[in-house]
Amino acid sequence: MDDIEATIIQNKHIVSNYYTLKLRLSKSMGRVLPGQFVMLKIPGNEVFLRRPFSIYAYSNNTLTLMYRVVGKGTEILSKCPKNERTLVLGPLGNAFHIRKTDKYIVVAGGIGIAGVHTLIKRLGKKASIFYGCTNKEELSLINDMLHLNPMVSTLDGSCGFEGNVIALLGGYIESTKGEDRQIFVCGPAGMVRNLQKLIEKDRTPCQALVEERMACGLGLCFGCVIKTIDEKEPYKRACKEGPVFDLWEILL
Ligand SMILES: Cc1cc2nc3c(=O)[nH]c(=O)nc-3n(C[C@H](O)[C@H](O)[C@H](O)COP(=O)(O)OP(=O)(O)OC[C@H]3O[C@@H](n4cnc5c(N)ncnc54)[C@H](O)[C@@H]3O)c2cc1C
Ligand code: FES
Repeated sequence: MDDIEATIIQNKHIVSNYYTLKLRLSKSMGRVLPGQFVMLKIPGNEVFLRRPFSIYAYSNNTLTLMYRVVGKGTEILSKCPKNERTLVLGPLGNAFHIRKTDKYIVVAGGIGIAGVHTLIKRLGKKASIFYGCTNKEELSLINDMLHLNPMVSTLDGSCGFEGNVIALLGGYIESTKGEDRQIFVCGPAGMVRNLQKLIEKDRTPCQALVEERMACGLGLCFGCVIKTIDEKEPYKRACKEGPVFDLWEILL
């Protein structure tokens, strides 16, 4: 893992406050695994700390991130023009562990899709995808996976199931009861908590990518800790021991 010089080759608005950022890296990042992330320097001098972003796609020294504008750093990023230079530290963190099973279920909410994008690419048709967003316009975030027939929920009911994605997933979990399954999830904390409640009885194997706030991304500052069931060492660093955790080992 290295700090790598990068040049923006595309910064594209997708819909509402969602963007994709394509960067040409000055050298290879090496092997990238599903669930890993980078710490990106926000161009300019206004934002000191780097910001963590999941690796949405990576090939031939070209890194793609998908991001949602939520604050100062992402606001500045959204205005960065082509050819702007920056720095990328990565790949960082532990990846999703894919075990051999009959059914893979990938659940994502909103920008959480960025965290599971490389995983979905890896699993292909073996994955049953559940995606929740606000309205049908936001479905453009999953345009490149429509051939995998994702099951979709929108909060306003403008497309697919009306309501949250965990309510949609409930029926499927019931209908595949008894089958060997593995679930992967990335999304808002409330969504992950609801998933935990839904599958609590069967304790279905599940891995969650948690998006804690990070300062260093390197395991040095302990600014990203998350509480776990480990009695000896309850606090784990999302950037070092995560960002992918066994859902049954973390306390949300
Ligand atoms: C491992 C990891 C992967 C991530 N991947 C992506 C991704 O692919 N795309 C993407 O858009 N975002 C991703 N995030 C979240 C992203 O890092 C934050 O949205 C970003 O740092 C916000 O920076 P900002 O300066 O715009 O916002 P700030 O000004 O720092 O904060 C603005 C608001 O956003 C909230 N916020 C900031 N960081 C987070 C966070 N990590 N989780 C929840 N709320 C937060 C703050 O509490 C505040 O309310 C990821 C985070 C982690 C830890
Ligand atoms: S962000 Fe510094 S230890 Fe995780």
